[in-house]
Amino acid sequence: RADVDEWVLAARPGEVGGDVGARKHLQLNERFVSLIRGRNGGLHCLDSVCYHAGGPLLIGDVEDVNGVECIRCPWHAYPVRLVDGAKPYKRLHVMPDGTLGRASWELSERRQRVHMVDERADGVWVRLTSDARVDRHAEGAECESDRWAYRESAGRNVLR
Ligand code: FES
Repeated sequence: RADVDEWVLAARPGEVGGDVGARKHLQLNERFVSLIRGRNGGLHCLDSVCYHAGGPLLIGDVEDVNGVECIRCPWHAYPVRLVDGAKPYKRLHVMPDGTLGRASWELSERRQRVHMVDERADGVWVRLTSDARVDRHAEGAECESDRWAYRESAGRNVLR
């Protein structure tokens, strides 16, 4: 069992492949998280279960949305940024004359929790970020994905 504030070995060297989208699903501190390989070899760690409605987000496809790498949830197609767990979306603007103006890109405040990752010679280490379930006074706001992170859910069944 891992404490929230400690680094934990999450994968052996080479266990997560080098291709974009290579991944590993695991439980740390009983929390469902996934390691996923991004562009340029970067490795990310996010809560596995989608903040929106408990879908299996981390089995989705990796794609660019507005120039930022995202994972697309298989259930309702929400894109979630690998770098910070935010959801980019297009916002329509109504002009004074009632017509629709150009849509602009915005970021949702509701977020998937992203954890810290360090890929070292001896493997991939993860440090879970502040977790309101464990420490309500910890730095960092609650994330919507917190409510799904420990649940028996459809996402879990698909991920396991
Ligand atoms: Fe709805 Fe993921 S569960 S977009």
